[in-house]
Amino acid sequence: MACWLMFLSQHFFKVTPILRSYASAPARWSKWCVPVAAMATKATEDAFRPPVCTLPEAGGMLNRDLFVKTLLLPAVRFNKKLTSVCLRALKSKALTRKPFLRNNPSNPDEKVLLLNPEVVSSGDVLSLGEAGAGFLKEHSLEGKFGEYQLELRYSDWTSEEVLRSLLPKGVEVPTGFSRIGHIAHLNLRPEQLKYKHVIGEVLMDKNPGLKTVVNKTGEINNEFRFFSMELLAGENNLIAMTKEHGNSFEFDFSKVYWNPRLSTEHARIVGLLNRGDVVYDVFAGVGPFAVPAAKKGCDVLANDLNPESFKWLQRNIKLNKIEMGLIKAYNLDGREFIKEVVRKDLIKRAEEWNTESNPRQRTHVVMNLPSLAMEFLDAFPDLLRNVAPGVRGRIGLPTVHCHCFSKEADAARDVRHRIEAVLSHSIEGALIHDVRDVAPNKEMMCASFELPGAVVFGDSTEDSQAAINEPQAKKSRTE
Ligand SMILES: C[S@@+](CC[C@H](N)C(=O)[O-])C[C@H]1O[C@@H](n2cnc3c(N)ncnc32)[C@H](O)[C@@H]1O
Repeated sequence: MACWLMFLSQHFFKVTPILRSYASAPARWSKWCVPVAAMATKATEDAFRPPVCTLPEAGGMLNRDLFVKTLLLPAVRFNKKLTSVCLRALKSKALTRKPFLRNNPSNPDEKVLLLNPEVVSSGDVLSLGEAGAGFLKEHSLEGKFGEYQLELRYSDWTSEEVLRSLLPKGVEVPTGFSRIGHIAHLNLRPEQLKYKHVIGEVLMDKNPGLKTVVNKTGEINNEFRFFSMELLAGENNLIAMTKEHGNSFEFDFSKVYWNPRLSTEHARIVGLLNRGDVVYDVFAGVGPFAVPAAKKGCDVLANDLNPESFKWLQRNIKLNKIEMGLIKAYNLDGREFIKEVVRKDLIKRAEEWNTESNPRQRTHVVMNLPSLAMEFLDAFPDLLRNVAPGVRGRIGLPTVHCHCFSKEADAARDVRHRIEAVLSHSIEGALIHDVRDVAPNKEMMCASFELPGAVVFGDSTEDSQAAINEPQAKKSRTE
């Protein structure tokens, strides 16, 4: 008895899985493993879950050492030169969980294939199927088909598995988070808040490179579209450095707007631009449209009212080595930017345009402030009313890319009608793109349309008003 106790204390809690030498063992070499098997968990899918562990006391540390479990699995050992042959014969019987192929710690020339205990019983060669049994026979491996003591530890489980074992039943394990450089940003539900610190710790452990985990504590409702957050785990460092489509962006995540879910939209809009185009980015943030547009060879005038966004936008222009002058940064209210900067720039370019040597530059106005951008469209009517007739004809009418939200079933129709109401003009031919679902029954949309001359030059006619009332089907393209 004393002997068994010594054996168990020496081998049961080893960190490295052990596979004993079975060279002289009887055909069913699991026999002498029985004492271990008696203590090991039944190896089914369920058995691979971590043990149910108690949560640390409030303010206490997560005890990772409690996550230990030993399983006894059917397995076959073979010379590593046979790996591909073995996998061909036995892959269908392999353990469904990775890594099912391991090195044999007691013999560097050997590999161990862990088998699925739900279809294979150790020692029963027939349970390996014809191909498996044939493989053992052909390579005289019957004596190497037995059991493997697999020890699982904290590092072997995913964050979801660890949290499932820690959180009480009925509390959903958070599955997703936004990642911004070294920061994970969570939006926990009320019932998860009690466990917020342990959730933060586990996510940090399981996601290499994460150094800070924060939870959103308030809705985005301030002017500058960032939200309050609290630190759950790691360093209190919210200066993030992240990459989007090969460009680098640095900013204080607690003071500016950044949403990694907009990455596709940033690329889509930039994809609509051509080298030499002019881009007026009214709500530029820290530059995710402006920087790639300038890299593409566009002239960019980028604006944001948040002084922090303006500061980091300037930083990102340098960080991405944008040629001097390709992006001009402004810190103005969007309406003022349109009425002053955009207006003057359109006129200046028209005056300078040398029709003989240059094609006219195409111009774009990007308006990504979905909750309010539509209201800012009221800056366009009459914007160029008093421009001299000679210059007027030389101005290229900008294409506006206006982001907005819609809760209507026919979001494209809703967006179009609301824009037409602000402009008092039809936006015939608008391309209305569905950007993403923001919440159940709430879509982020983007309407791209050429600003009607009648609107900017201020000579709206009855015809244009009538055009607004024409049936929807003819009026816009929807993506
Ligand atoms: C939804 S964010 C978009 C930022 C950036 N375009 C992006 O895609 O990440 C909207 C931006 O508009 C800025 N903003 C809010 N009100 C503004 C205003 N009245 N004038 C100019 N910018 C404003 C905010 O500071 C914020 O950076």
